[in-house]
Amino acid sequence: MNDTPGLRALVVHESMFGNTSEVARAVADGLEREGLEVSLTRVRDAAPADSYEFDVLVVGAPTHAFSLSRASTRADAVRQGAPAVSATGPGVREWLAAMTRPAAPRLAAAFDTRVTRVRRVPKTASSRAVRLLRHHGFRVVQRPTGFLVHDMAGPLEDGELVRATDWGRTVGASVRESTHAHG
Ligand SMILES: Cc1cc2nc3c(=O)[nH]c(=O)nc-3n(C[C@H](O)[C@H](O)[C@H](O)COP(=O)(O)O)c2cc1C
Repeated sequence: MNDTPGLRALVVHESMFGNTSEVARAVADGLEREGLEVSLTRVRDAAPADSYEFDVLVVGAPTHAFSLSRASTRADAVRQGAPAVSATGPGVREWLAAMTRPAAPRLAAAFDTRVTRVRRVPKTASSRAVRLLRHHGFRVVQRPTGFLVHDMAGPLEDGELVRATDWGRTVGASVRESTHAHG
C-alpha cells in the first residue's frame, strides 16, 4: 500500500465527551493503512493551522446545534457533564478561521459525530467544516461523514469505529490518487 511514501495527513479534532476523539483515532488508523504519515492532534493542543505542512487536512468535530461548536455550545456541554478542560481553547471553527495562508492546492476532508439518525442531514459539523475548508481554498476529497453516538455523551454506536477506519482508508486512497493525478 505504501507506494507514495511521504504523504502527510494532519488530523485535527475536537471532542467534549471523547467520542469524536475515538473516531479520530480510527480515521487516523485508516489513513495509516493507506500508507500516509499521520499527525493526530486535539484542536486545543494544535499549533496555528498555518504552521503545519501536510498533504491532506482532516478535521473532525461533534455536531452542536446543527453546526460546528461555538464557545457557548461547548459551555453547554460542560454544564451537561463534559469535562471542563474540553471547552478550553479554540474549536475547529475558530482554528480554521485563523488560517491565513493560501491553501491551494491542498486537500481536505471532514467528519463529525451526531445523535441524529436521519441518514442525510444537511446541517452538521462536517458540512459546516467543508464549507469553511472550501472557503480557504481546499479541495475536499471525500464526502463529509457523520458517526453516530447513542446519546449526547455517547457511547458510539456499534460498528462506527470500523466505519471510521474504512472512511479514513477511503480518504487516504483519494489523496494518493489525487497526488498521482496532479503531482
Ligand atoms: C450543546 C450541544 C448541542 C448539540 N446539538 C446537536 C445537533 O444539532 N445534532 C446532533 O445530531 N447532535 C447534537 N448534539 C449531540 C452531539 O453531537 C454529541 O454530544 C457529540 O456527537 C458527542 O461527541 P463528543 O463526545 O466528541 O463530544 C449536541 C450536543 C451538545 C452538547
